[in-house]
Amino acid sequence: MDNSELLQPIKTRISQLFGIDYPIIQGGMIWAAGWKLSSAVSKAGGLGLIGGGSMDAELFRRHIKKCRAAVDKPFGVNIPLMYKHAPDLMRVTMEEEVKIVFTSAGNPKKAAEFLKSAGVQWAHCVPTVKMALKVQDAGADAVVAEGTEAGGHNGFDGITTFCLIPQAADALEIPLIAAGGIADHRGFLAAMILGADGVQVGTRFAASIESSAHENYKKAVVEAEDTDVYLGFKSVGPVSMVKTAYAEKVKQSEWGGAGIEQLKELYGSGRGRLGIFLGDGEEGMFEAGQSAGLVKNIESAQDIVKDFVQGYWKKIKNSE
Ligand SMILES: Cc1cc2nc3c(=O)[nH]c(=O)nc-3n(C[C@H](O)[C@H](O)[C@H](O)COP(=O)(O)O)c2cc1C
Repeated sequence: MDNSELLQPIKTRISQLFGIDYPIIQGGMIWAAGWKLSSAVSKAGGLGLIGGGSMDAELFRRHIKKCRAAVDKPFGVNIPLMYKHAPDLMRVTMEEEVKIVFTSAGNPKKAAEFLKSAGVQWAHCVPTVKMALKVQDAGADAVVAEGTEAGGHNGFDGITTFCLIPQAADALEIPLIAAGGIADHRGFLAAMILGADGVQVGTRFAASIESSAHENYKKAVVEAEDTDVYLGFKSVGPVSMVKTAYAEKVKQSEWGGAGIEQLKELYGSGRGRLGIFLGDGEEGMFEAGQSAGLVKNIESAQDIVKDFVQGYWKKIKNSE
C-alpha cells in the first residue's frame, strides 16, 4: 500500500455535503480555534471551524478573512447560540459570505429560518436523540451528536458517544456527525461503524501546534492520563476539564455538597479564557474531554488529519 492510497478521499454524505476530502471536522472551540487552526485543518482535507464564541464581531471578521486568505478549501464557523453576541456573529458570517455554519448551545429553531434563507450549509450540535430530531425538523443539513466524553460544555443527560450515535443514526434521515471521545483513527472508524457519516474532534486539535490555546493547556492535555479529566458542574451546566488545581476545587465543592448558588459562584465568568488562553490552572478552566488520555504529543493539524485518514484506510484495506 503506497502513501497516496492511504490518503485517498473518504466519501460519505458529510464529505459530499461540505465538499471536503475527509469527513473529519475540527470543532469550533472557544480560545483554541482561530484561523490558524481552522485553515490548517481545511488545508489538510478536513473541515476547519473558527470558534466564534470567544470573539467579538470584529475579531471574528478578521479571523474569517485570514482563514480565507490562508486556504482555498471549504471552512466554516461555530456560533454558540446562547451567547449574547451570537446575533452579531451571525451578521458577520453573512456579510463575509461564509457558507458553512455550525451552531451549538441553544435552540436550533431560533437560527433555522435565518440560516435556511441565507442558503448556507448548517449543522447543529446536540447531546440527545430527541434534540437531534428537533434539529432535523428545523431543517438543518446535518446534526452533530455529542457524547458526554466530549471536551467543553456537555448535556445534562450524560449519554456516551457509544450509545448515542447508533440511536441517533437509527432515528435520523439527515447526515450525522459523531463527537466526543474521538481522538484517533480508531475512534473515527468506530464512529463510522456505529452509523455516523463523519466525526467532529475537539480535544486533540485543541492541543495541536496551530491551536491558540496556551502551552500550559496543551501540556496538561498531553500529560493527562485516563483518570485526569473531571466532568464538573453536573447540576448547573456540565463542563469537562483537565484536573487542575481549579478542577480539584470544583470537585471538592461538589463532593462536599455545595449548593447551586455556591457552584454558580465558583463557575464564575471568564474561566475558559483564564485557563485555555492564558494557561492559568489555578483559577482557570482547562476545558478538554476524556480523549485527553489519548493525546500524546503536540502535533500539527496536518499530522493529526493524516493519522486519522491513514489509520482508517489501513484498517479498511486490511479487512478487505
Ligand atoms: C477547549 C474546547 C473548547 C470548546 N468550545 C466549543 C465551542 O465554543 N462551541 C462548540 O460548539 N463546541 C465547543 N467545544 C466542543 C468541541 O467542538 C467538540 O464537539 C468536542 O470537543 C468533541 O469532543 P472531544 O473533545 O472528545 O474531541 C469545545 C471543546 C474544547 C475541548
